[in-house]
Amino acid sequence: MRPDRSRRAADVSVGVIFVAVPRFEQEPDPVFWRLNASLAYDRRLASHDARASRAHARALLGAGVLTAAELERMLAGLDAVERELEEGAFTYEDSDEDVHMAIERRLTEIVGPLGGKLHTGRSRNDQVATDLALYVAERSAVAIELLASVLGTLHGLAERHRDWRLPGYTHLQRAQPVSLGHHLLAWFWMLRRDVDRFGAAGRAAAVMPLGSGALAGLNWPLDRDTVAAELGFDALVENSIDAVSNRDFALDYLAAATTCATHLSRIGAEIVLWSSDEFGFCRPGEDYSSGSSIMPQKMNPDAAELLRAKAPRVQASFSTLIGILHGLPLAYSKDLQEDKEALFDAVDTIELCLQALDGMLAGISFDRERMAAAAADDLAAATDVADLLVRRGMPFREAHGVVGGLVRHALEHGVGLSEIPASELGRFSELLDDEYYEVLTEGAWLDSKVSRGGTSSEAVTHQLGLAGASLADLGDER
Ligand code: ARG
Repeated sequence: MRPDRSRRAADVSVGVIFVAVPRFEQEPDPVFWRLNASLAYDRRLASHDARASRAHARALLGAGVLTAAELERMLAGLDAVERELEEGAFTYEDSDEDVHMAIERRLTEIVGPLGGKLHTGRSRNDQVATDLALYVAERSAVAIELLASVLGTLHGLAERHRDWRLPGYTHLQRAQPVSLGHHLLAWFWMLRRDVDRFGAAGRAAAVMPLGSGALAGLNWPLDRDTVAAELGFDALVENSIDAVSNRDFALDYLAAATTCATHLSRIGAEIVLWSSDEFGFCRPGEDYSSGSSIMPQKMNPDAAELLRAKAPRVQASFSTLIGILHGLPLAYSKDLQEDKEALFDAVDTIELCLQALDGMLAGISFDRERMAAAAADDLAAATDVADLLVRRGMPFREAHGVVGGLVRHALEHGVGLSEIPASELGRFSELLDDEYYEVLTEGAWLDSKVSRGGTSSEAVTHQLGLAGASLADLGDER
């Protein structure tokens, strides 16, 4: 439904509807109304709008726009509005163009014409930028909370599987064995960086646009610092034109969400591979799997598949917003209204995916024997044999060639490297003796990786400590 402009203009006298538009003679076309109205989605900002309105009302007292008694009535009215919002009792009218108009209309219904004073010294341009900044700051903090939970789960999993062996891959070919704890910690650090990115988005959103008016500033000496402090902002946007044009904080959130969703996608992809019969390394719990409508034996890793697939959707939201901002002249244009659906979809998607990853990881099980068997092929220790020759004085490049010859020999004879008899080793290099077999003992390949960040049990234990400490540091981002 669109508004009846004549009714609005008439009702303004009794203070029920405050947007009198005598400037217009024609009603808005219903199609235009559908295009222009944002109420269907921006109602998500209702509580932020009410909070910001409360702080603004207080500033209006300081500026002499409201008396103390009027402020009290207005705050009581805003309380009532907030209560209705919390209880789900707030009714939107189809004739409300957006959430800001809806809240002001309802306030005016409750407190009468006094409600019409709330919009003094404020424009929807600085209002919507402020509501959105509050929202982005809030959702950044939520993303960090959800990440913190996933990180805790991953840290526990890594601890419990610190010395389980599996092949590490490059080019999806078995490369060198690693410990499962080591691999899970790779996921941990990937997501730990996302915490910093969401933290940066939250800080970008902590700068208050309100008090900038439509674009040029206000005729009223509003105490912006006090308003900012009341709303939890760290600072003020120092330029009123920038304040109403800027959506970088939303872009920062979307960039963080895009990178995070990409990480979830890579983790999902690994879980899908690992849970196939071909790998058989892991199995998500039944509570995060589904069956097949036709094949009774199937248990599909749907959650992991969906984590894999959601990333482009979040990236599309980033593309939408950067596309909207691209080439857009300052200051406010209605284009900016299009920021919301993209942002909201990304928020919903990333929050759901983070919860799903956490839930799936809580019930995942790993097959120790399968992974160990896949990691047992001693060709994976070829680099370790080369390093043995290097310790005996051979340049690495030459050692690489010698071991290449050993590998070819082993493959031609259908044996492992450790099955080449000692009597034949001399053909490849005089520097090879019994230590060759020690290097090829299972487990020796892992524990030889002593470098910091490597896969030896000592290095992984050290890394678990660092990861645990960085979990404790998350407090700084929150
Ligand atoms: N619904 C609008 C938005 O989301 C609010 C700001 C409208 N400003 C204006 N000058 N029409 O961007």
